[in-house]
Amino acid sequence: MLAVSDAIEALIDKHGPDALCRVLGTMLTPERIARIDAVLAARLTSVTTAVEDTYDPHNAAATIRTTEAFGLQDLHVIEPHARFSAAKGVTRGAHRWIDLHRWPSAEQAAAHLRERGFRVFATLPDATFSIEDVDVSRPIAVLFGNEHEGLSPAAIAACDGSVTVPMFGFTESYNLSVTVGLAMSRLAARRRAYIGAPGDLDPTRLARLRARWFALRIRGVVGVVERALG
Ligand SMILES: C[S@@+](CC[C@H](N)C(=O)[O-])C[C@H]1O[C@@H](n2cnc3c(N)ncnc32)[C@H](O)[C@@H]1O
Repeated sequence: MLAVSDAIEALIDKHGPDALCRVLGTMLTPERIARIDAVLAARLTSVTTAVEDTYDPHNAAATIRTTEAFGLQDLHVIEPHARFSAAKGVTRGAHRWIDLHRWPSAEQAAAHLRERGFRVFATLPDATFSIEDVDVSRPIAVLFGNEHEGLSPAAIAACDGSVTVPMFGFTESYNLSVTVGLAMSRLAARRRAYIGAPGDLDPTRLARLRARWFALRIRGVVGVVERALG
């Protein structure tokens, strides 16, 4: 049996997002639809988070939750050793609304992002270049490292540069999920100011996401759609 998310994607492929939204929209309140549309309008794809080899499920879950709450649609997970498993209860369902991309190596993740026009940055507590000075006129991807060792040398080498989130105390580094929050909050705000809009979803992706989010709100959605559209 397909997972619900795969079954929903199959429905979108089969019927198209607009037909799905027409059918499912009749089962949602206008307030629910307005909320989905407001979140879609603020979805940012040109700022993205990547985490390498994180081992603490609470950090993984907090990263998902923070990424979604900031309106970032994509989260890249590099898993050379540890499987990225998010602690149940900590994501508060946030994982359903974003796209999680899994990579076996940082090189592959960085190459994929660079091909799509991203500049890719490693985060290092002792880097000299501040996150505040990152050029936001281009799409930006930021890699975060493991709780103990930080980013692997291969991941750092795969990036275009490294950045620090400034610290002023005796502590040598922030907690991983705190760093994700601090860095991505600033970059998302600066990128939104630069593009002059809260979001940047292209129309095709927006239509598919709208259909997915409508479907996620409806119990037994596969049966509902098959009865209405065959
Ligand atoms: C607990 S830290 C790992 C510390 C590790 N000893 C190191 O030197 O990278 C986990 C991750 O948080 C991020 N991080 C923590 N503090 C940071 C800072 N001040 N600037 C940039 N990244 C930081 C990095 O991605 C790091 O790999």
